[in-house]
Amino acid sequence: MSSYAITGTSRGLGLEFVRQLSQNASNTVFAIARNPDSAANLQTLAKQRANVHIIKADLSDPQSLLDAAAEISKITNGSLDVLINNAVTYNPESMMMTPSQIPVDDAATRQLFKASIDSSVYGAIWTTNAFLPLIESGKDKKIIHLSTGMVDQHITKAAGVPYMIDYVASKAAMNVIVAKYAVELEPRGIKVVAISPGWVDTYDGPYPKPAEIAGSTQYMLQSFQKVNPEVKGQIEREDSIKMVLDVIDNLTTKQTGLMISHHGNQDWF
Ligand SMILES: NC(=O)c1ccc[n+]([C@@H]2O[C@H](COP(=O)([O-])OP(=O)(O)OC[C@H]3O[C@@H](n4cnc5c(N)ncnc54)[C@H](OP(=O)(O)O)[C@@H]3O)[C@@H](O)[C@H]2O)c1
Repeated sequence: MSSYAITGTSRGLGLEFVRQLSQNASNTVFAIARNPDSAANLQTLAKQRANVHIIKADLSDPQSLLDAAAEISKITNGSLDVLINNAVTYNPESMMMTPSQIPVDDAATRQLFKASIDSSVYGAIWTTNAFLPLIESGKDKKIIHLSTGMVDQHITKAAGVPYMIDYVASKAAMNVIVAKYAVELEPRGIKVVAISPGWVDTYDGPYPKPAEIAGSTQYMLQSFQKVNPEVKGQIEREDSIKMVLDVIDNLTTKQTGLMISHHGNQDWF
């Protein structure tokens, strides 16, 4: 039916995108991973499904993205219908830092932000530009970037979460970049959106969850419940991606350039 390229498919939501999209045998799914050899679950899936092609590329390595686009182009005769830029990385050291704890030091600050900016800012631009010629020749003409509802300043204030500054600031920059691309590409019939997948459990074990992970999940739950008392916990990856794919299928011109949730609106939970 359609061809899809997804970044960051070794695990988490990226792997779930590949799993759900490849259930339809008429889709062609390009699963991009930076280390395919160590992506055991992805390798198993690709062995079971002929429509899954594993492609190696790293968002922080622009040449690898151009090579990936060239490899996909050979299979599709120069086109791609939907690009889903899902990959993310961040510096675990800065996750629990508040803004005022960032040292007034050039090298240290750049180091704290590097992983997030490489993936969510430069990586988002390089991925988009590497695949743009293919998308222009595709039939669906959709570019999706995975973002987070945490960039919403009202949520930050209401939840009272001062942490994850590099991750959230980089995603906020990504959202503005999405709007800029949407303005540029709308006359060419290309829709560009940021989608927040909800608060999703992507922990892969071992169980029971380590105290540190269980503790941070509990902290986030209490914070989110200040915004919406109805939030009961993380949602399952299967449910999140099913909803996100429904949003992608039904994308409207009105939504291009915006960040929308897995509900297709501004409800982030
Ligand atoms: N889970 C949530 O609750 C949630 C909420 C809001 C937004 N999101 C967004 O949804 C997306 C997926 O989240 P997730 O929870 O599935 O993340 P995840 O479990 O941390 O997985 C991240 C994926 O990105 C890949 N990756 C990291 N750096 C890369 C690079 N430089 N080049 C290529 N691939 C790279 C990882 O590969 P390796 O295995 O090689 O590290 C992995 O496959 C992200 O954009 C995230 O910000 C998630």
